Amino acid sequence: MNPLDTFRLDGRVAFVSGGGGAIGAALSEALATAGASVVAADLDEARAKETADRICAAGGQAIGVGADSTREADAERAVAAGRERFGRLDILINAVGGGAGEVLFDAQEYPRDAWDWIMEINLRSTLIATQASVREMIREGHGGRVINISSVRATLGINAGYSAYVAAKGAVSSLTRQWATEFAKHAITVNAIAPTFVDTPQVARLLADPDFKSGLVNRVPLRRIGTTDDLVGPVIFFASDASSFVTGQILGIDGGLTATQ
Ligand SMILES: NC(=O)c1ccc[n+]([C@@H]2O[C@H](COP(=O)([O-])OP(=O)(O)OC[C@H]3O[C@@H](n4cnc5c(N)ncnc54)[C@H](O)[C@@H]3O)[C@@H](O)[C@H]2O)c1
Repeated sequence: MNPLDTFRLDGRVAFVSGGGGAIGAALSEALATAGASVVAADLDEARAKETADRICAAGGQAIGVGADSTREADAERAVAAGRERFGRLDILINAVGGGAGEVLFDAQEYPRDAWDWIMEINLRSTLIATQASVREMIREGHGGRVINISSVRATLGINAGYSAYVAAKGAVSSLTRQWATEFAKHAITVNAIAPTFVDTPQVARLLADPDFKSGLVNRVPLRRIGTTDDLVGPVIFFASDASSFVTGQILGIDGGLTATQ
């Protein structure tokens, strides 16, 4: 057998929570190119449908669904829409989150509303989408893949008002290990990627500050920030048979940043 075939996703169905976002859309399109049918779900229904339209225009199979991944009924409805269209669910990508650069407060003053919002979009969205998807995978009985998007901020502090975000991503990394142990009996693996800054609209404001950007790039051994393309290979690996015996792992995609700490 050609070992590259183990990376193919033909016949698999991927649910991408946050499939309308910068990273979620790029990963949706990559999964479709690798052969998967894709359910792109996003609070922003128009962007979810745009992702699906791009995949279909390129010859793939996808639907776009408007759904709030922090609400159980919405997540269940989006998973059901995928089941109705494609008949099964194999892969979940948890790509809802962020907000870090939008609400920066000194730790001793961090306001509760900002804290709750960051926890909702980064942590609760991951919990709710995973519960709905894993219940479906267990019902179908063929195993599956859960891939979380954590961040280098799960392990690295940053002197820039990030208290809630580091707490949320630390919890996403912890849950990756916890769920790996719980879901293994159902042949469901759970892994995470932990990128440093990825060149997306979400961090554009921070990266527009040349001092911030050069300080960041100078700390990265590979001397650049990430792109959505950098996330594709690791996610296809975690989504495919190539990673059959890998679970509970958090892979830094950071140009060597965490290796320096
Ligand atoms: N961009 C980066 O530099 C970077 C670095 C490390 C980790 N990450 C993580 O990657 C993930 C994706 O980031 P991104 O840059 O693509 O952000 P993004 O803002 O482009 O995408 C997030 C998407 O989630 C959607 N969304 C928000 N709340 C939702 C909800 N309740 N239910 C459903 N959809 C909802 C938004 O509409 C948006 O389309 C986040 O978890 C982020 O923390 C990003």
